[in-house]
Amino acid sequence: MSVKQLERKGAAESSLFDLIARFESEGSAVEVNFRQLVTTDGSTNKSAHAIHPYPAKLLVNIPKFFIDALPSVAGSVLLDPFCGSGTVLYEGALAGLRPIGSDSNPLARLITKAKLTSVDREAAQLQLDEVMASYPSALPTIPDVVNRQYWFSERISDCLGRLKTAIERTVPARHRPVFDVSFSATVRRVSYADPRLSVPVKINPDRSARYGAKGDEVIRRLGRLADIDVGATFWSIASQNIQRCPELGQGFAADQPELFSDARSLGLADGTVGFAITSPPYVGAQKYVRASSLSLGWLGLTPDCKLRPIERRSIGREHLAADEMLEPAGTGVAEADSLLDKIVERNPLRARIAQRYLLEMREALAELSRTMTHDGSLVLVVGPNLVAGLEFPTPLFLQQIAESLGFTTQLHLIDSIDSRGLMTKRNRTAGVIQQESVFLLKRVRVGA
Ligand SMILES: C[S@@+](CC[C@H](N)C(=O)[O-])C[C@H]1O[C@@H](n2cnc3c(N)ncnc32)[C@H](O)[C@@H]1O
Repeated sequence: MSVKQLERKGAAESSLFDLIARFESEGSAVEVNFRQLVTTDGSTNKSAHAIHPYPAKLLVNIPKFFIDALPSVAGSVLLDPFCGSGTVLYEGALAGLRPIGSDSNPLARLITKAKLTSVDREAAQLQLDEVMASYPSALPTIPDVVNRQYWFSERISDCLGRLKTAIERTVPARHRPVFDVSFSATVRRVSYADPRLSVPVKINPDRSARYGAKGDEVIRRLGRLADIDVGATFWSIASQNIQRCPELGQGFAADQPELFSDARSLGLADGTVGFAITSPPYVGAQKYVRASSLSLGWLGLTPDCKLRPIERRSIGREHLAADEMLEPAGTGVAEADSLLDKIVERNPLRARIAQRYLLEMREALAELSRTMTHDGSLVLVVGPNLVAGLEFPTPLFLQQIAESLGFTTQLHLIDSIDSRGLMTKRNRTAGVIQQESVFLLKRVRVGA
């Protein structure tokens, strides 16, 4: 470890010690600003974190702080059961921990894999040149993409299809994740989707006023799509991403993460995880699967254009099947149940969505409790919501659930500055309040 790293670790350890002392003496959540508590070197855009956009990415300062502040042994496991784009796992791997994650969204798993798989940069750049050389004459592979003609012109679809064939033919398995995420980022860049929104919404030149000050820029972008060079766009994204990924043989210990697809059934033995950091999904406010739909289609990850099977595995989803009714038995959290009684009067569907969220989060936290060692540390980052216009204190509900499953609260921090890239609120009554709770929980006894 370098002197600088040792200094950072020492500073984080003493900050954490002070914060715990304040939490214990004041008996209430301590306000912090993670952007000030942990300074990054400002190079996040050049690092692997920037290889692909993802909704509600975690502020990198949070995992950095806890990885530095908490004791861990090199090579021990760091788990993120809701890993999204792999922010936590990448930071853990940089610190010499063994990354294990899960995410129900196949695009999230792909981004995480790309971030954590070291590449031979020189060989990858040569493979990129080969892809570019064979792409003009390749036969297009056009997979099932939901409403493809609505989102892409025929010319662009043809170019993407030829790129897909060239990548599949040329790139060896180790380098496929970085090529595939670059292809996915290209798909988004050359589609008619408004670049400012996570969920695809088609740019409509007749309504340019709704784009505000950025209107002209968005409309110009639409104009450029008419003759955009898809190959050059891909080349530029992929060349940058090859440089962002860890370099093979340069001491990046992790080299390919272990990834599962559901936080509720991790393929891990009991009591084997000493450290977990995670930011679970919000209740009914984030549309991860819809946000990824164009990429999932082009990558061939949604056969027959079916998003529903992936959506059904997602906690916090907005769509429920007709048989997913309000459970009469409740959530096991008395305050949540009485709040749900109020919500049901305003909007029965929203009440069902919120209840299902708490029940499914209970399953995920029980699974976490099962896999964690005694004295293991869990950092949980979670913000409150509005559900049907009523404040829904998700952090307190999840804290109570975790405590009923064998965790105890060591520290509760509140960061009032948005620490995740949140989606635009499309549903007025399901807004996300810009404040987050960060809990440090300790696993003390076998789950209830
Ligand atoms: C707040 S995001 C995590 C963002 C991540 N920390 C990052 O920096 O990119 C929550 C994630 O939970 C995932 N998710 C939802 N239901 C899940 C489930 N049943 N198992 C695993 N992951 C799930 C979503 O797909 C989403 O990627």
